[in-house]
Amino acid sequence: MSVEHARITLEETRAAAGHSAFAADVRAGLAAERKALPCQYIYDARGSALFERICALEAYYPPRAEREILQRHGAEIVRELDAPCEVVELGSGSGEKTDLLLGALSERQGPVSYVPIDVSRSALEQSAQRMVGDHEELTIRALVGDYDSALASLTRDAHPRLFVWLGSSIGNLDRGQAARFLSKLPLRDRDQAFIGFDLRKERSVLERAYDDPEGVTRLFIMNVLERVNRQLGADFDLGAFEYVAHYDEDAGYVDMSLRSSGPQRVRIEQLDLDVELSAGELIHVENSYKYSPEEIESLAGVAGLRVERSWFDGGRRFCSVLLSRAD
Ligand code: AVJ
Repeated sequence: MSVEHARITLEETRAAAGHSAFAADVRAGLAAERKALPCQYIYDARGSALFERICALEAYYPPRAEREILQRHGAEIVRELDAPCEVVELGSGSGEKTDLLLGALSERQGPVSYVPIDVSRSALEQSAQRMVGDHEELTIRALVGDYDSALASLTRDAHPRLFVWLGSSIGNLDRGQAARFLSKLPLRDRDQAFIGFDLRKERSVLERAYDDPEGVTRLFIMNVLERVNRQLGADFDLGAFEYVAHYDEDAGYVDMSLRSSGPQRVRIEQLDLDVELSAGELIHVENSYKYSPEEIESLAGVAGLRVERSWFDGGRRFCSVLLSRAD
């Protein structure tokens, strides 16, 4: 599919995703003392489809909580913006929740220029096509690429900019990485950022959200093994691993790992590598960091930003914050 619409442009901001980066990351991850496979590699077409299914699960509350905030407080949120502004969204995906924000914003300012960034060209094409249909006053400049290369290609126009990062995607980063990422966001004086954080809460709720009764999250995490099998000619036996989601309450993150049921050897043909796993040994795949409101404040402070306003859903499960430069 390609987009042909007067109000959509699409740009590639990086060379097509490297097969060699994947191979190198898998080799390094499985050679490490504590084995790991990076969660970004879950997201091929099947992984992205599984994530969409996760978002529809009753146990996985974050999308519903965030949508509730946008629905209830959208008008109030856009009143806090330095309008007219341009909206730049990190990891826009299906763009479904962004619709609520864009709708409220065009009520306020009329025409909206929207710059979605995503690694998936097809996700951008589909959502852009749908969104220009739904919003008459929307102009889209979609950027295909990772955050760094896409952010580097932003133009320097005078309009204030709103960076939007929804879905608690920031939770994939540990607290230090999150602070570094925020401090490197190219926020100028009048720019703002609107970011969704999943809040710390009871273990039972979190562990159910990340190990749902239907087993979709298990398939999602295991998809990283499927991908190594398929793309690197490995023979991981998915039945020989157990999925474990564990909430580390002190550190405040859910750890998602695969545990080897018994001793086993896995051959990865294209890496010419044999990997030995002992019984019970873990392969770490993903972390999801949770925040208290105080931790959000201090994260902002460390990154040189300040929280202008925050909004919560009725159950106080999720928090959306509006940030600007501290100075
Ligand atoms: C996409 C990182 C926000 O941590 O909640 C959901 C990913 N992993 N279930 C999250 C995820 C398993 C999700 N983020």
